[in-house]
Amino acid sequence: MERRVEFIDTQACGSPPVAKLESMVTRRSIMMAGLVGATALPVRASSARAGDLSGQASRQPDVPGFVKELMAEMTLEEKLGQLTMVSANLAQTGPYSTPMTLDSVKLGRVGSLFNLWGAERIREVQRLAVEETRLRIPLFFGFDVLHGHRTIFPIPVAEACAFDPGVWKATARAAAEEAAGEGIDLTFAPMLDVTRDPRWGRTAEGPGEDAWLASRFARAKVHGFQSTDLANPDAVAATAKHLGAYGAVNAGREYAPVDISERQLREVYLPSFGAAAEAGVAAVMPAFTDLAGTPMSANAAILRDLVRGRWGFSGVIISDYRAIAELVSHGVAADLADAAALALAAGIDIDMMGEAYAKGLPVALGRGEVTLASIDLAVERVLALKAKLGLFDNPYRRCGKTDAAETAAGVGARRQLAREAARRSIVLLKNSDHVLPLRDGVGSIAVIGPLADAKGHMLGPWSAAGVSEEAVPILDGLREALPATTISLAQGCGIDEIEPASKARALEVAARGDIIVLCLGESKTMSGEAASRARPGLPTAQRELARAVVELGKPVVVLLFSGRPLILPNWLAERASAVLAMWFPGSEAGHAAGDVLSGRFNPTGRLSISWPFDVGQIPIFFGQRPSGRPASPTEHYTSKYIDLPVEPRFSFGHGLSYAEFALSRLRVDRSELRAGQSISVEADVANLGPVAGEETVLFFIHDPVATVARPLLELRGVQKIALAPGERGTLRFSLAAEDIRFLGPDLEPKWEAGAIELYVGRSAA
Ligand code: NOJ
Repeated sequence: MERRVEFIDTQACGSPPVAKLESMVTRRSIMMAGLVGATALPVRASSARAGDLSGQASRQPDVPGFVKELMAEMTLEEKLGQLTMVSANLAQTGPYSTPMTLDSVKLGRVGSLFNLWGAERIREVQRLAVEETRLRIPLFFGFDVLHGHRTIFPIPVAEACAFDPGVWKATARAAAEEAAGEGIDLTFAPMLDVTRDPRWGRTAEGPGEDAWLASRFARAKVHGFQSTDLANPDAVAATAKHLGAYGAVNAGREYAPVDISERQLREVYLPSFGAAAEAGVAAVMPAFTDLAGTPMSANAAILRDLVRGRWGFSGVIISDYRAIAELVSHGVAADLADAAALALAAGIDIDMMGEAYAKGLPVALGRGEVTLASIDLAVERVLALKAKLGLFDNPYRRCGKTDAAETAAGVGARRQLAREAARRSIVLLKNSDHVLPLRDGVGSIAVIGPLADAKGHMLGPWSAAGVSEEAVPILDGLREALPATTISLAQGCGIDEIEPASKARALEVAARGDIIVLCLGESKTMSGEAASRARPGLPTAQRELARAVVELGKPVVVLLFSGRPLILPNWLAERASAVLAMWFPGSEAGHAAGDVLSGRFNPTGRLSISWPFDVGQIPIFFGQRPSGRPASPTEHYTSKYIDLPVEPRFSFGHGLSYAEFALSRLRVDRSELRAGQSISVEADVANLGPVAGEETVLFFIHDPVATVARPLLELRGVQKIALAPGERGTLRFSLAAEDIRFLGPDLEPKWEAGAIELYVGRSAA
């Protein structure tokens, strides 16, 4: 559905630009003056060298007086200790695992720890810091609480499919409550890397392909984790990671170089981080990767000048795992001291697992590559964070709740939330002949596949303190949801192991079922960090099993578990009666699946990322710019493939419901838009189907004529409406003048007078 709003130039006669509805006039060229929040600056500048404090000093956190006094007493070694973060190795999240020694804590050589949780364990280590070190400075404890701590919620790319900031915030809040109850002060989340390349394993951890959606996700997560005050015992400091453009690694290969245009960087990859900074995120983590030759861990132009300088971020910047030392491997530092000097000058305060600051900074200081003042600035920021977290007042403030009853009730509520988040994240990709929902007591069901009864895999790649045994497998969920139905199970193969006997048995079981539910996809370790896949499809063993099952000619419902869009064989996508993107749904996987398949919950999830037909289409995303020769099936010399469609198999926003919705009457309350104004955009939605459902409607704009070509569609709003059968409702979107601003040829934000097209629809397709 499309409407046009015209943005025309009246500045010539002294008044600001206005927009006029449905005019075909496309005059343009007038800008608004006095833009707010401009972010333009050259981010391609090379990394900073020695002791350059410009910009770093531009925004300092509020440093309490006692921190200054404390610093006056600190030795250089104690200061460097505050800048050093080490893994306690209760979980292993990186390659270099120097075990933490308690002696180094007692000597004040460590300022923060990660990969340790549990109130008692943390209390014990904290006791060493506050009772046995010379200055009694508390530690803080970090952990990768990406999508739940003990109760595991759907992976982020899945949760993004809920298109619902309320859900995003609620799960972050619940995760923070659990993590804080186990001693965690800071999470290395949210992961805000937009990605358009399903080969990249970390697609699982992020918000999908769109910058607008990612920015909403960022805000909700930061507010959820941090609550209203970082000092609250159940607040956890959030870390916006991994800045920036990590999702654009070359050919989707983990840790590979990144080389993108400055426009793409600013329009696609930085906005989610800007949104997190605006929401008050406590920490930022630079990506492992480089950007056009400058590794992010040495990227002063972005970390120091943009993030600290322009955005006014005054929190801590924490390196990724050994990333400072890796500046040597990147080829920009000669040795550890050089690496440490580069990172410090770029604005990194904490060295995670690298020993670069502890060992390299004294050498760099001796060489004159850094100043003591720049080290002090970093120490101040770390101590200020500890003060904000309330650790100087009570270093044990996150060391555990004791009220068992309260905890038990909390667990119930969190499990309920995990179920709700999971069923809102599941996307119904295909449902022919209304094979779904399944009706209880009508026919028998054969549940087949290596992920049918696989608790551990349901938790996904970053399951923090999650316990596999506590996850509900799909089989159990289906049996609970359909108690009057005979449900039989057969695995058929391993995740990627052909098992002939198991396959034969699975085919027997499948042949006896009236409907087959085929549970296929990735193991939890096939996505996540260091899990790039050049062929992000179904493993061979599963393809063979699926082919044999489909050949039986029965209705097949395919549940796909993955941390990324999967490339499906055409025969499977075409011959399956129904297909669902389950992602990794978390602790309540089985219940959520049961709710959706039985129709107890009418699916409402929409894809946060396009699903390609084939690897050859990657990168694929809806926000493409137009071609001078748009694809045409009849014209040879047009922008297309001769062997594949141009479109993805499933577009951004795609997702079916058991209800049937119709959109009509797109309208606006004004035809012209001036600075400071908003247009109210409305559309009617009717539920024409036989069941109640919730419709998700996406609102896009397109600027058809601009000095710099604009994407074919830009997302600007999402609304949901729940409707009973036969019911109608109205959805309202608001389009502010700043929503149509864009970066001009000089990369400065600007408005141009002219037409703006407005679209509402169910997906980018
Ligand atoms: C490396 C990962 O890139 C990062 O996301 C994570 O927070 C750290 N390891 C700590 O586990």
